Amino acid sequence: EVLSSIVGPLLTWYEGQSTLRCLPWREEVTPYHTWLSEIMLQQTRASAVIPYYTRFLEALPDIESLARCDDELLMKLWQGLGYYSRARNLKKAAGVICQEYGGKLPADFAALLELPGIGRYTASAIGSIAFGLPLPAVDGNILRVTMRVLQCGEDIAQPAVRRAVEEALAPYYPSGQAAGALNQAFMDLGATICLPHGAPHCAACPLARLCLAHDAGSEQQLPVKSKK
Ligand code: ADE
Repeated sequence: EVLSSIVGPLLTWYEGQSTLRCLPWREEVTPYHTWLSEIMLQQTRASAVIPYYTRFLEALPDIESLARCDDELLMKLWQGLGYYSRARNLKKAAGVICQEYGGKLPADFAALLELPGIGRYTASAIGSIAFGLPLPAVDGNILRVTMRVLQCGEDIAQPAVRRAVEEALAPYYPSGQAAGALNQAFMDLGATICLPHGAPHCAACPLARLCLAHDAGSEQQLPVKSKK
């Protein structure tokens, strides 16, 4: 099966991309750091997030300080990032974490999913990166890579298709450090090689020899995404 054969090459490729991994949230990995970075990265590109992320952690270095911070400081730290409900949810969730979980993020997909501001993608990203849980973090990048590798023309705008991709990938996910590495390998491949617009850089892709879309020359027709 194609999906089982992409895991090894993706992880090997990711290990070799040391410059891509020079992101502050990949250097000192803690559950709080991973959570904060994934919330900031939900609607903002990595290069723009970096200074906000660093400044936020200097002002609010742990979950308890976040739970107790002034709203004024919170808004000042978020100013320029936009989507301010992300910041309000972050503080609300910090309160829940302090009251219900002793100030530590729960290492559990369902518990993470219940926290304000955390959906399936973010719960999987935190679970895999911070806790080593074998959870595919299905975003646009992982959908695009998967649909191309499988040469699958189903509509990725359909929630059922996203769910099917999660279920298709889950059996091949490793536990431990490699779980987060695999999700971040998909993100990086999608951001640098398996591009959404224009011609993807298949000559540099570690999956080119396995990719059914590349084999058929259909990579630029995939994925199919209806407007709705
Ligand atoms: N976008 C969302 N999560 C990310 C991560 N962990 N690293 C880089 N870009 C991301």
